[in-house]
Amino acid sequence: MSVSVEGSAFGALFEEKNVHSEDSNELVLHGAFPLAKHERQNGFNATDMNAFGNSFRNYDAESERQRMVEELYRMQHINQTYDYGKRMREEYGKLDKLEMGIWECCELLNEVTDDSDPDLDEPQIQHLLQSAEAIRKDYPNEDWLHLTALIHDLGKILMLPSFGGLPQWSVVGDTFPLGCAFDESNVHHKHFKDNPDNTNPTYNTKNGIYKEGIGLDNVVMSWGHDEYMYLVAKENGTTLPPVALFIIKYHSFYALHRAGAYTHLMNEEDIENLKWLKIFSKYDLYSKSKVLVDIEKVKPYYMSLIEKYFPAKLRW
Ligand SMILES: [Fe+2]
Ligand SMILES: [Fe+2]
Repeated sequence: MSVSVEGSAFGALFEEKNVHSEDSNELVLHGAFPLAKHERQNGFNATDMNAFGNSFRNYDAESERQRMVEELYRMQHINQTYDYGKRMREEYGKLDKLEMGIWECCELLNEVTDDSDPDLDEPQIQHLLQSAEAIRKDYPNEDWLHLTALIHDLGKILMLPSFGGLPQWSVVGDTFPLGCAFDESNVHHKHFKDNPDNTNPTYNTKNGIYKEGIGLDNVVMSWGHDEYMYLVAKENGTTLPPVALFIIKYHSFYALHRAGAYTHLMNEEDIENLKWLKIFSKYDLYSKSKVLVDIEKVKPYYMSLIEKYFPAKLRW
């Protein structure tokens, strides 16, 4: 598949930059991912203005929010071990919690708040629809991508009591590989020092338990809503293309798609898929708006995509 960001509504707002590891102690919070100081100094302030031309961040007024986010990452970095990631994948991979359709789950998601995302004041379904509608506008022929945007965060239902009521640190925030060293580009990297895997010689080398180029699908990721929704889509036999599953599974893996870390674990298919993930990520981050999508107006379109790519009821 060829990938182009030309003609995107976001074209003028974005510039690809690498977050270098030596800046890792100078990170400030930027939505759910770290923005290095040099990026801010270089005028990379895309979120000051979003796709709809609204501004919505005031860093000075958000210190309490930032403290809460850092605490979330502290807990996440201490508790997400290789054993934990594997265990959660096995447990939730059983998909024995509930049966429901995709749209039903979109509505259910409104009951969830994401502490890691300071920009998300609107109901979750609005984030899903705003990102899907923004992508639809720029890539009208890629209907699979519209649906991918609609469903990418549905895994956040893991925080609801009927799904085990998992804590924020086990559901949201950036994700990262387990079973190998924690790359310094991970946000709030310092908190990994209290993760038992950090001092385990089996897990704390660059490759850890993996071989170079092994392919991301063979890498155990920290547990969260990305991995869960990937499992739900795959195990329920979605006909979405593999790249859609890749986007869902790694959309919070900012160390990879933002900072370019962990590329030594990728195979050729991952490299191809990453191009679409980078495109998707811009819409995930920057399509948030106070201008709400008229849900009833767009619902028939998304219902038609759900019917095309999913069974009526899915196991969750
Ligand atoms: Fe997400
Ligand atoms: Fe999202």
